[in-house]
Amino acid sequence: MLNAKVAEKLNAQINSELFASHLYFSIAAYFSSRDLPGMSSWFQAHSVEEHEHAKKLFDFMQKRGARITITELEAPKTEFTSPTDAWETAYNHEKLVTAAIHDIFEVAAEAKEYGTTAMLQWFLDEQVEEEDTFRRNFMLAKAAGDDEWNLQDLDARLGSRNA
Ligand SMILES: [Fe+2]
Ligand SMILES: [Fe+2]
Repeated sequence: MLNAKVAEKLNAQINSELFASHLYFSIAAYFSSRDLPGMSSWFQAHSVEEHEHAKKLFDFMQKRGARITITELEAPKTEFTSPTDAWETAYNHEKLVTAAIHDIFEVAAEAKEYGTTAMLQWFLDEQVEEEDTFRRNFMLAKAAGDDEWNLQDLDARLGSRNA
């Protein structure tokens, strides 16, 4: 049976991955309204990825016989002052996720839940990749600034890439 404190943390993380999915779908809607379909599809794909992260944790908890509860989601931010602002919001969110994974890892290690720390290794690696990708794209958006031509050019590049 999974340690209760660890189960609680993992359950919270499932809900937080669902929130990330929600937030990225909201950012996709913003980019769509800004006529930046490439960035919109990038965030739509990433929204699906976050849902897959929730499912990964769900499957793990299920295997360990832990009770999973799905909670109400906070409303995501819907208005952004610029494409750079939207990218920065996403990058900052990834940093929060990394901190949350570190916290669960510490609690699991303390509880000697080594199956959980082993499973979380995937999430630690994933966060290194994600922070790098989001930081890089944020930087590119910042470099494009408010220039429509630069933004459309970056949009075309990001649209041809997978999240
Ligand atoms: Fe995630
Ligand atoms: Fe993520």
